[in-house]
Amino acid sequence: MAQQAPAGSDFYPPAPKSVEETGLGMGFLTDLAIKIMYFEGNITGAQIAEEMKLPYAGVVDQLLEFLKREKLCEVKGTGGFAEASYQYAIAERGRAIAREALERSQYAGPAPVTLEDYTLSIHRQTVGNIVVHQRTMRQALSHMVIDEKTFSQLGPAVNSGRSLFLFGHPGNGKTAIAESIGKMILGDPMYIPYAIEIGSQVIRLFDNVNHVPAEGPVPARQIDPRWIRVQRPVIITGGELTLETLDLVYDPNNKYYEAPFQVKANGGMLLIDDFGRQQVRPRDLLNRWIVPLEKRVDFLTLHTGRKIEVPFDVLIVFSTNLAPRDLVDEAFLRRIRHKIEITDPSWEEYREIFRRVCEAKGVPYDEKALAYLIQEHYLKHNRERRSCHPRDLVDQLIDTARYLNVTPALSKELVDRACDAYFVEI
Ligand SMILES: Nc1ncnc2c1ncn2[C@@H]1O[C@H](COP(=O)(O)OP(=O)(O)O)[C@@H](O)[C@H]1O
Ligand SMILES: [Mg+2]
Repeated sequence: MAQQAPAGSDFYPPAPKSVEETGLGMGFLTDLAIKIMYFEGNITGAQIAEEMKLPYAGVVDQLLEFLKREKLCEVKGTGGFAEASYQYAIAERGRAIAREALERSQYAGPAPVTLEDYTLSIHRQTVGNIVVHQRTMRQALSHMVIDEKTFSQLGPAVNSGRSLFLFGHPGNGKTAIAESIGKMILGDPMYIPYAIEIGSQVIRLFDNVNHVPAEGPVPARQIDPRWIRVQRPVIITGGELTLETLDLVYDPNNKYYEAPFQVKANGGMLLIDDFGRQQVRPRDLLNRWIVPLEKRVDFLTLHTGRKIEVPFDVLIVFSTNLAPRDLVDEAFLRRIRHKIEITDPSWEEYREIFRRVCEAKGVPYDEKALAYLIQEHYLKHNRERRSCHPRDLVDQLIDTARYLNVTPALSKELVDRACDAYFVEI
């Protein structure tokens, strides 16, 4: 998997050296610390720092100093020489304060970063900085058989870092192409925060399903532990997408937010697979994204009704089996610059895919047998070809051979049986 280092990849969030440098208020941070103590019982300063994802020296030690002074917590023991190993426990007065804080929000995880810092980080690490060259593109798609015209359209579309509309008959590789594009960009790591703060409200951003921590050498710098280095996100959504899931999801019990898909995908790619099959009308979905796609900002609503502006820095890939004109009108379509039809393979391409499938699955390839298959099962029936047919037919053939207890080969009998079973006329 080859990838170019985008210009923004030298971004890193420096560790805060003081409470002030976190950008968060003292009240917000002491609330968070006291909530953690409330849940944990006895805990060392180092453990609090670990849970809050903040440096001990200069930040957490200051918070603890304050909590002690206010008699909200007390020192239970000095586990070692280092101050960070002192054991703390919440005091009676602290319990009341913690309950009040929990009433406002149950959030008791990593300290968030400010929306301003987050916005800046996305600008610095924009997906638009990723430049994919022809060679990289060919490599990423080398497992597929794709014609020159499609190739020449895909590269610029990916480099636009904006939107890409793939359409065409099912089985011709739209999802496979989109996934390969995703693999191409995710190799380049970026920093995202665990959570974002806006007016003392917390939005959870990082999640284990959609974000994968990046491997490889960690830069020898003091990184703000509130940020995590991840592979550029590649998020795939299907039929479950609704307009509501594109806004902040407020949990009324826990009283904090979960970032929607497009925010989690910031800096990476969001694939709307089988576009048009969602519960939401395609028109409404596109309408929701027209402005963000052009302005690169999205507006989300807090439960109080307040609107906030967050960066929208996503390569959005729409993939659909439906004809574009059946989905939306021209005016809409015009605003998506890159529309690429993934067409049925030519016979030449079909043959090449078939040959590769045979090789991969250990079935001896035979030109004559393929000519027979094409003549008997395509031309005679006026059947359309799809790029997924070779894979599906060879799989079918292998299953049949296994059942008959013979070696899989492109014999007439096995080819006929496989095709008859696969091509059921509807
Ligand atoms: N151009 C291609 N070259 C090689 N194999 C392909 C190609 N297009 C599709 N396939 C095969 O068909 C499978 C199904 O393709 P898929 O991407 O799901 O199609 P679509 O999303 O357009 O319905 C792929 O996983 C791959 O095995
Ligand atoms: Mg698909």
